[in-house]
Amino acid sequence: MQDKSSFYITTPIYYVNDIPHIGHAYTTVVCDTIARFMRWRGKEVRFLTGTDEHGQKVEKSAIESSLEPQIFTDKVSERFKNLTNQFNITNDDFIRTTEERHKKSVTSLWNTLLKNGNIYLDKYSGWYSVRDEAFYNIDELSENNKGEKIAPNGSILEWIEEPSFFFKLSSWQEKLLKFYKNNPNFVSPKSRYNEVLSFVSNGLEDLSISRTSFKWGISVPHENNHVIYVWLDALTNYISALEYPDNKSQLWKKFWPADIHVVGKDILRFHAVYWPAFLMAAQIEPPKKIFAHGWWTVDGEKMSKSTGNVVDPFKIISEYGLDQFKYFLLREMRFGKDGDFSEKSLVSRINADLSNDLGNLVQRVLIFVYKNCEGSIPKPDKFLKVDNLLLTEMNQTKDKVIKLMDEYLLTDSLEEIWKIIKKCNSYTDNQAPWVLKKENTSRMNTVLYVLLTLIKKISFLTQSFIPDGSHKVLNQLSIPLEERSHEYYDKKLEYNTSIPEPEAIFPRIDKKI
Ligand code: MSP
Repeated sequence: MQDKSSFYITTPIYYVNDIPHIGHAYTTVVCDTIARFMRWRGKEVRFLTGTDEHGQKVEKSAIESSLEPQIFTDKVSERFKNLTNQFNITNDDFIRTTEERHKKSVTSLWNTLLKNGNIYLDKYSGWYSVRDEAFYNIDELSENNKGEKIAPNGSILEWIEEPSFFFKLSSWQEKLLKFYKNNPNFVSPKSRYNEVLSFVSNGLEDLSISRTSFKWGISVPHENNHVIYVWLDALTNYISALEYPDNKSQLWKKFWPADIHVVGKDILRFHAVYWPAFLMAAQIEPPKKIFAHGWWTVDGEKMSKSTGNVVDPFKIISEYGLDQFKYFLLREMRFGKDGDFSEKSLVSRINADLSNDLGNLVQRVLIFVYKNCEGSIPKPDKFLKVDNLLLTEMNQTKDKVIKLMDEYLLTDSLEEIWKIIKKCNSYTDNQAPWVLKKENTSRMNTVLYVLLTLIKKISFLTQSFIPDGSHKVLNQLSIPLEERSHEYYDKKLEYNTSIPEPEAIFPRIDKKI
């Protein structure tokens, strides 16, 4: 697939009233890894994240904090900027829905939908979840033990009745179904695609897209008592950050349609049904893919403020390290499936995969070279079959990883990389350079040269997943910074290049849990 040279990827924009937790960190890290990988391959990447700042939920939180909503959101959106900074996220833009550029785009999209006959005024009465900022149908309701009406995900519903503008979603059912049929990869994983298909096949009702019972939002043009429904407002961030409706804008021309919107499974319907319908209705091409990832539980339980088990990502990285946490997130939960966080599994991943497998390989080879080859890359003699076999396998791994990453299969990519790391460790054991040192130094030099080449190639692949550790290894191999992208993958290591004294990259964690 991937042949176009530009690439646009987005995270959902986070509700600004929340405190960043493992779920937010996960989506952001996933997008960052994909963005880094695509850049590594030479694409011009645009990576967007930001905060969702309007709506009833945020207004409520502002009132509880006794602050004006704008002052409240200015303050709390910093927490998410802080997440991108502390996680060393390579986003190119950070959008806030309270910014003028965004309001301008939303108003313009509204006017276009109105002009195209997709909006009408009526009255809404029904069940609403402030937590999800979503309307629910009568057949989706149940009751909790307090007799309150709840949505399928457990959020409490309130009855609302108010004048409202509606989007003619029902008239887009057939066009959406046709679109899904023609774009079978629009939603991943496949199980989620089927879920969307069945939801739309069951019929669509028109969607209420304005509210009148609170004020905190973008006003409907010429109808100041209505604010635009927060999801229509929020989804537009993906195009307002590209300067929509200015279709002469370079950003717009280069990056729309987005290559991928990464979202959690809970917000799939908004992205895979409402969003393409809004876009088609405004004669804008829909994004190419919606990837819905799973949810993290904590020690087997649902994460929630009331249980007090919310995982603080800042605390984890200060205790265990950034690469360590990122690796865990990407490896432990298969992208698209649910996963469970526990400190025990975090420590065991760090010790088994990062310290024992990768750290051990790098450490023992580099220290051995440093001590026995006068601190420089040794000159190889003739390669044997066993050397060539492993080097060929390494190159096959690279090809596989590129293919897997084209389908955004991050966990599978890491598994492939770790298979070759384990093989490199076995090769080291079998070739035993410490024995060759006494018997055959020219063979020892060849084995070490092969191992250094493999370590370089492995680090080239791990750069997007665990950038800090990978860069440290590449520094230890004296590979110049500007020679770490895809096109230098096959460049041979120059023998006699001196290498610095090796340092540990992923120390073992000896904490008992
Ligand atoms: N503001 C909306 C998104 C608008 S996008 C146009 C929103 N925000 S959110 O802050 O509630 O959620 C952001 C993302 O975090 C969602 O993709 C959601 O799935 C994800 N997660 C929230 N809790 C999570 C877990 N426990 N595990 C994994 N991700 C979860 O929805």
